[in-house]
Amino acid sequence: MTIDFRTESLAKLACPAVIAVGFEGHPAAAGTVEALLPETRQALGELQAAGEMAGKAYECTLLHRPPGLAARALLVIGAGKQDPSNPPALRRLAGAAARYLRARGFSEAAWVMPAAGGAAAVQAVVEGVILGDYDADRYRTEGKNEKRIDRLTLASNGAAVGDDLRAAAERGRIVAEAQNFTRDLVNEPSNRMTPRLLAEQALRMSQRFGLQCQVLGPEEIRGLKMGAFWAVAQGSDEPPRLIVVHYTPPEAPPAPVVGLVGKGVTFDTGGISIKPAADMHEMKTDMAGGATMLGVMQAIAQLRPAVRVIAVVPAAENMPSGKSYKPGDVVTSMSGKTIEILNTDAEGRLALADAITYIRQLGATVVIDAATLTGAVTIALGNITTGVFGWNKEWVKRVLESAAAVGDRMWELPVDDDYREQYKSMIADLANTGGRYGGAITAAMFVGEFAGDTPWVHLDIAGTRWSNEEKPYLAKGPTGHPVQTLVHLLTHLAP
Ligand code: BES
Ligand code: MN
Ligand code: ZN
Repeated sequence: MTIDFRTESLAKLACPAVIAVGFEGHPAAAGTVEALLPETRQALGELQAAGEMAGKAYECTLLHRPPGLAARALLVIGAGKQDPSNPPALRRLAGAAARYLRARGFSEAAWVMPAAGGAAAVQAVVEGVILGDYDADRYRTEGKNEKRIDRLTLASNGAAVGDDLRAAAERGRIVAEAQNFTRDLVNEPSNRMTPRLLAEQALRMSQRFGLQCQVLGPEEIRGLKMGAFWAVAQGSDEPPRLIVVHYTPPEAPPAPVVGLVGKGVTFDTGGISIKPAADMHEMKTDMAGGATMLGVMQAIAQLRPAVRVIAVVPAAENMPSGKSYKPGDVVTSMSGKTIEILNTDAEGRLALADAITYIRQLGATVVIDAATLTGAVTIALGNITTGVFGWNKEWVKRVLESAAAVGDRMWELPVDDDYREQYKSMIADLANTGGRYGGAITAAMFVGEFAGDTPWVHLDIAGTRWSNEEKPYLAKGPTGHPVQTLVHLLTHLAP
């Protein structure tokens, strides 16, 4: 998508479609509609009087040959009662406008910039349009939405456009394209996204954006004594990969070193504790945490914050076979802690355990993990909100603040020593399940056991990785959540 700025007056802006925002109750009088000429607003006033335009949230009103404008069409997008100076709200409005126009064959649009919008607004609009323009339809050969928005113009209506706004548009493009990269990875079915192929994607992305990437195979994983991760991988004919990506800007201070760990189970059958057939296909998304971290790395490689970051993605397939690990098995994790396997479907925490031990060994001074870890978190928070866990309240707060800033819904759930009883083993140091009650908490705490005294925050994205319904501003399918939160965090850490 080409993104450009144009400064001519709206009256003279030749473009297939111009997009303005209107509010509920005053769609023809408020929002960026105010920047339009009196004759344009009069035409909109008539639509409003006729009851065709109320300005409700995401309501789209398309006016062809709008009086007073050189553009072929004017789209008024309703903000409802939302404050469109709020970047997350603006991002959604821009996404909804993009999806509406694209569905009607438009491939170019101009967004009317609010006079007082500033850089955050520009970034949000660019992000919204690029995210809204995405559909998970790669494998369709028929009935595919061929139209894409390939040019977005930011129309300043006579105002000068400074470098700050151009930089903001570029930031928006980088973040949204990284999020779409994550969505592409999550959307791939497991026959096209094995651990090997995920590692290839990581290598290719790293090469393209100048990151250092290392991929470890089965021998190296065994050599590191990653007995927990290995147990998950051993049942599959597809060999595991441990993906390691380094971002080390020379100007970064020695600390913190942020360690990002993403669960990379490319398919989760449950193993010997096999899952029911219904909905099992959804387990192709069980590498969403890993895909998130690769998207974050792609973004920061371009945004270049002065902070050192390492990403580790343990990638494996959880399969039943004659080689599988079994309930009752005892495995020794890389940390030395022994784990009794009570359920082979609680595999994510095993892979994360060794990945966290490893990333600490690589020098991470804080660990953030993202994982589609539990069905339990979806019972607690649905697929709207990510569960956030951690003992270190300062880092939990940082994550929650970044989430709030970008509009990713996250909510802290507790960790507490009293839950430890639930995942004690009779014969080993830990058991890999803590029962049904508080399942998201005991899973998180199990993972946290391997962070030791390193500050650690866990994001359970089992619900938020995927949207089962189409939103006006976002396609059904992979969401790319929580790429934005983590990019915001990393780009706001450096002083
Ligand atoms: N990958 C699943 C969790 C999951 C469920 C992700 C639904 C996305 C949607 C995880 O590996 C799993 O199977 N967890 C079990 C744990 C249980 C066996 C203790 C679960 O949540 O049922
Ligand atoms: Mn599982
Ligand atoms: Zn899983």
